[in-house]
This record gives sequence, C-alpha cells and structure tokens, in this order.
Amino acid sequence: MTKPTPLIAGNWKMNGLAASLAEAKATAAGLGDTTARVAICPPATLVAQAVYALKGTRLAVGGQDCRAEASGAYTGDIAAEMLADAGATLVILGHSERRAGYGETDALVASKVQAALRAGLEPIVCVGETLEERKAGQALAVVTGQVRGSLPADLAGKAFAVAYEPVWAIGTGLTPSTAEIEEVHQAIRATLTEVFGAHGATPPILYGGSVKPSNAAEILHASEVGGALVGGASLKAEDFLGIIRAL
Ligand code: PGA
Repeated sequence: MTKPTPLIAGNWKMNGLAASLAEAKATAAGLGDTTARVAICPPATLVAQAVYALKGTRLAVGGQDCRAEASGAYTGDIAAEMLADAGATLVILGHSERRAGYGETDALVASKVQAALRAGLEPIVCVGETLEERKAGQALAVVTGQVRGSLPADLAGKAFAVAYEPVWAIGTGLTPSTAEIEEVHQAIRATLTEVFGAHGATPPILYGGSVKPSNAAEILHASEVGGALVGGASLKAEDFLGIIRAL
C-alpha cells in the first residue's frame, strides 16, 4: 500500500487582508526540504492575490468552501470553478463551522465535493464529533457516518483528503489524547477502505483542532495521521513553519 504524502494545510478562516500575504510568502520561503505538501486557504478575497504572490513556490493555495452549482443566482456564494479560475488547487469542505453555522448536511457536503472534482480541485473533507457526542460514546459512529455521507462514490481514484477535527478541539487549545486521535483515524481509514477498496489507503487523513508547534510532533507522528489542518497557528509564518518542521 502506498503511504499517503503528508499534507499540511492552513485554514485562515475569516482572517487576513492583503498585507497578511507577507506571512504566506515567509512560510513559502521557509519550507526548505520538507517532504509534505503544504497549502494555505485564505479568505476568497485573497485567493488570486495569494496565487500570484506564491508563484514558483511550493506553497499551494486553496479555498475554504464552495457552492455545489457552477454558476447562477446565488448572491454572495462562490463556485468551485471560480476558485480554480483564481488559481486554487484545493478546497476545504464540510468544516464544522459551516456544518454548525449554515446547517450543512453530509448530503450537501457530498454535492460540494462533486463540484470540487468537476472543477479539478482536491477536496479536504472535514468530519468531527461534538463534545456531547464524544461524552455519549458516539465519536466513532458520528465520524464514520460523516465519512460515508460526505464522500461521494465519484471520489474513487481521485486525489482527496479527510480532516478529522473534533469540534471541541477547534480554537479551544484542547486536543484529544494521541490514543484517541489514533482510534478515530484508524476508524476513518477502515471506512475509506470499505468504501473505496484499495484506493482507500491513499488519501491522507489530517488531524485538525488546536495544532501548534508545541504539540505538532506528537500529533503528526501518531499512527494514520497524514498531516494537519491548522487554523489559528497558520496565520503566522513562524508558528506554521514550526508545525511543518515537526513532521
Ligand atoms: P484551530 O482550527 O487550529 O484554530 O483550532 C482548526 C480548524 O478549524 O481547521
């Protein structure tokens, strides 16, 4: 089985003005000979500028969401084709902030994944349980259910990543134990293999939620952890590079 190439992606969320691209450039300049694929997902307003600023570097650019339709009367929304046209190569889909804040269901996320594939973007599909679900002993059932529901069959043979982001670990400074992370990542891998057969071994499974330079090495070296989706710590090059170098 091919071991997935690690992917470390920074999710800037609704943070960043044009001046913030200096941090992205500093990240690109400091990548050295890391074996990981590295990306930043800035707000949509900065995607084209980031692509331009990072031309010729190894730092890829992604979007944070897209709509399923390719075009139409959807005020304020953005199509996967538009992200690709701006030079993005990846897109985060199904982030818990969108599932919770905009009522995104697994079925909607799956339709967005299809849009990403149509536009030639690599989707990073997020899954993760709430604290209540974990306390009720439902973490594995919730996460594997989200994997089944959010990943359409057309992903077979395509490049994609899954990000396990426990909702209670996002932006809180709390992280699951290494054993808890490994348990969930192994369950995700087993589900991917069940759904996609041999190809299920290829997509990296990222961990996300309060990853920082001080805990990155332990998390990134855990079994079946194929990289990280980093929020707050991706905004500053020094912190993001600290995580990338921990690989
Ligand atoms: P955090 O966010 O690293 O700030 O916890 C992670 C995410 O939401 O992707």
